[in-house]
Amino acid sequence: MIKQPNESESLQERRGSVLENIRDFQQQRETEEPAFVPGETLIKYGGRVFDSQELAYAAEAVMDYWLTAGRFTAQFEKGLGDYVGVQHALLVNSGSSANLLALSALTSASLQDRRLQPGDEVITVAAAFPTTVSAILQNGMIPVFVDVEIGGYNAITSQIEQAITEKTKAIMIAHTLGNPWDVDGVLELARKRNLWVIEDNCDALGTTYNGKRTGGFGHIATHSFYPAHHITMGEGGAVVTDDPLLARLVKSFRDWGRDCYCEAGENGTCGTRFSGQHGNLPSGYDHKYVYSHVGYNMKGTEIQAAIGCAQLEKLDAFTARREDNFSQLLGGLESFKDSLILPVATPKSIPSWFAFPITVEKGAAFTRNQITAFLERNKIETRNLFSGNLLLHPGFLDVPHRVVSDLANTNRITNDTFFIGVAPGLGSEQLDYVISKFREFLEK
Ligand SMILES: Cc1ncc(COP(=O)(O)O)c(C=O)c1O
Repeated sequence: MIKQPNESESLQERRGSVLENIRDFQQQRETEEPAFVPGETLIKYGGRVFDSQELAYAAEAVMDYWLTAGRFTAQFEKGLGDYVGVQHALLVNSGSSANLLALSALTSASLQDRRLQPGDEVITVAAAFPTTVSAILQNGMIPVFVDVEIGGYNAITSQIEQAITEKTKAIMIAHTLGNPWDVDGVLELARKRNLWVIEDNCDALGTTYNGKRTGGFGHIATHSFYPAHHITMGEGGAVVTDDPLLARLVKSFRDWGRDCYCEAGENGTCGTRFSGQHGNLPSGYDHKYVYSHVGYNMKGTEIQAAIGCAQLEKLDAFTARREDNFSQLLGGLESFKDSLILPVATPKSIPSWFAFPITVEKGAAFTRNQITAFLERNKIETRNLFSGNLLLHPGFLDVPHRVVSDLANTNRITNDTFFIGVAPGLGSEQLDYVISKFREFLEK
């Protein structure tokens, strides 16, 4: 608890006792949690892992009643930026908003001849989470789809190279399920062809490539804090960048498109609030209400940020747990390699896996849907690799796009790939059970 400057001693004491009560409540709840019963307790692929700290910080934010960006937002943005290793982190209301903002920022006229324009091509993948691609379409650009590898599930670098034309202006791809794309290869292509790189790091917070955390490689990177992600605040996301101009542009698009960059509750940070000349406005028009972009409101709240601060404190422990869970599943399922393709980490990387992806081998005696139905019947949650081929979905049948190659692996993923959980709420007892059920199914 941080002493609040405007609170009397007695209010501070009461604040302290509220927090103590909250901690007691959560401790009791934890002691009353039912024990794991194999075959009865649902083994979720993701989920919220928290303790009394999340509740206490959230309660503090409620008691502060500042609600919009305040001390917790500042702490969270600093903490996330430091963790990823970048200068600027901006809290937003979701990972999808983060993607939309990242791409929108690159359309700003301030970027002059490097600005993205409608009709420009952006290279991406179709075996994706939809809103990585939606951001491209929402900005009037053309997604160009390349195929992905089976096992690693990331864009094939040689196809990215093949996809580049005069119209290509950016590459926007996610580190699939926490496994990073070929960072050296993609960055080299981008450097040679002067392309923007937007790194969707929503599923990969904590992953490293060449010893450096993902999220710090692209010009801009995005994060999601929806439950099942590496940390959660319910709904939430962030855009991070090392470039101060891009940070300012993201902030403008996030905050209604305004030119003013004062924090909530501040006035006149620019020093020229009533003396600037903007667009065709009368001279000295209040800078607070000057709009340099056609923007959105995609800000997060102080309560989300407070929960995020508590989750950041746990992130290293979460990452270690994900790694252990992943290793246990890999070891336990290795003997079934004849019928299951197990995940393969990208060279030079240590993924913080979002989940454990599996592709049913060609010629296996069963289908993806048969094994997932069996696992689900046995209380083991499964998910498909997001959209499979996004272009097959009703909302994407008619979108403008270009395709490189026949997307054979992407189509295969649509039919044969699924994932199970490695989330930090799971431990060796649950995963032993998961492995035993795979054995039961596969040895039949
Ligand atoms: C790779 C990827 N990008 C973007 C998103 C969107 O994040 P959100 O659900 O916070 O909008 C997700 C969501 O799971 C995702 O997995």
